[in-house]
Amino acid sequence: MSKKRFEDPKWAAGQALTLDYNYCMAEFVGDQGLSAAALEGLAPRLAAAFQELQVERQSGRLAFLDLPYQQEMLAAVRRVAKPLLEWCWEFVVLGIGGSALGARALHQALRPPQFNRFPLARRQHRPALWVLDNIDPDYLFGMLDGLELRRTAFNVISKSGSTAETLAQFLFAYHFLRGRVGEAKARERFVVTTDPEKGNLRRLVVQEGFPSLSVPPAVGGRFSVLTPVGLLPAAMVGIDLEELLAGARFMDQRLQAADYQENLASKLASLFYLFAFKARNILVIMPYATALSGMADWFCQLWAESLGKKQDLKGQKVEAGTTPVRAVGATDQHSQLQLYMEGPQDKLITFLEVGKFEHRLEMPDLFSEMEGLHYLGGHTFEELLQAEQRATAFNLSKAGRPNLTLRLPEINAFTIGQLIYLLEVVTVVAASLWGINPLDQPGVEGGKQTTYGLMGRPGFEDQRREMAAGPSKLEKYRSS
Ligand code: PA5
Repeated sequence: MSKKRFEDPKWAAGQALTLDYNYCMAEFVGDQGLSAAALEGLAPRLAAAFQELQVERQSGRLAFLDLPYQQEMLAAVRRVAKPLLEWCWEFVVLGIGGSALGARALHQALRPPQFNRFPLARRQHRPALWVLDNIDPDYLFGMLDGLELRRTAFNVISKSGSTAETLAQFLFAYHFLRGRVGEAKARERFVVTTDPEKGNLRRLVVQEGFPSLSVPPAVGGRFSVLTPVGLLPAAMVGIDLEELLAGARFMDQRLQAADYQENLASKLASLFYLFAFKARNILVIMPYATALSGMADWFCQLWAESLGKKQDLKGQKVEAGTTPVRAVGATDQHSQLQLYMEGPQDKLITFLEVGKFEHRLEMPDLFSEMEGLHYLGGHTFEELLQAEQRATAFNLSKAGRPNLTLRLPEINAFTIGQLIYLLEVVTVVAASLWGINPLDQPGVEGGKQTTYGLMGRPGFEDQRREMAAGPSKLEKYRSS
């Protein structure tokens, strides 16, 4: 068998992600920046965070760290994908949050923008991928209405098996399909990805015999993109899973460096953390590549849900976290940038730069008598986009606005695997600096339980009553 490119150490080294944080430092951005001493001052806590990560990994609590090594999980994904690929033209993910965003991000990063509309042969007989991630009835109906139903498979994804939005999507899609193709056929068209033992979906698998895949019990939604949650949809659309996981392993090896100066995750986490204490409460993630916009959305959820915590591990009030915001270059230079340049000094901007794009598109030298067009002639779009990113970073720094650039040499499965793994570890290291638990989300429980109450779920009558008994809304605070 021929060697895969990621097995060549020289190729892999050339695909390593790199970080430039010059424009975070006081030398470039003045008072708004960090001193080398401030970074150095965090070194002992970063060393402790690094130790904690090793211990937690050993204990199995951070099971997502070992996912890139799970060959059996990969084999299980392939086993489920194979028969589906024989007939499936449309693959729909029913899920929300961490059970949807990873699949969408991978699809967007690693498949061409028009992939879903390509004729089948051009897609190498792979299905189009649709990710619901919501329960808006018009969107749900409109999505199903446009599908080639006889050739559609649905992947119901819920780690807990109890998420109301996902179960609602499932109930509707199942009923809808049953109406079109009959009960027996409808059942064959669903694959369930959930906990191996617990939850409503697992019960349904046992009871109804749906094909299924398991999410390792110790891996939570937002850390699950490298489990069947992300891998099955990715496999269906032909993403190279081996290369993706090799990229994640490559990053894991790099992140073994105990010295924070050598460790990309420690470095990034320390920058994100220190700027939070310089009143930079907004973390903008701004890829200069449309294909990475879904990765930015995925990261926003990971960061927000993991770090937004009221209490630290000792039970003390910390109200931790910063607010992640997705922007895309160059698009948002014409939307958000003015605010970043001159608005409140409350943001840290992280650019994702791509070294080399797949397509080399050159601007033709037309209408050369017009200087405003002539200067573009002969340059590539890659040059223009990179020039814009660098110019923006520089001008932000000139205006005393800290920013940093994480560079992907290319967009491919190997670099995306690195990026995913890196950002997951950064999040956990940042949580350790804040002294909080990144794996839970107690703040969203209240809303879920009140919704159960409002929807008449037995056992949640108190929540319904609690809301009904709250102060009545006042007319004076409504406007017609
Ligand atoms: O990251 C998380 O834990 C959440 O965003 C979940 O992914 C989301 O709530 C969906 O949960 P589940 O996969 O249990 O349906």
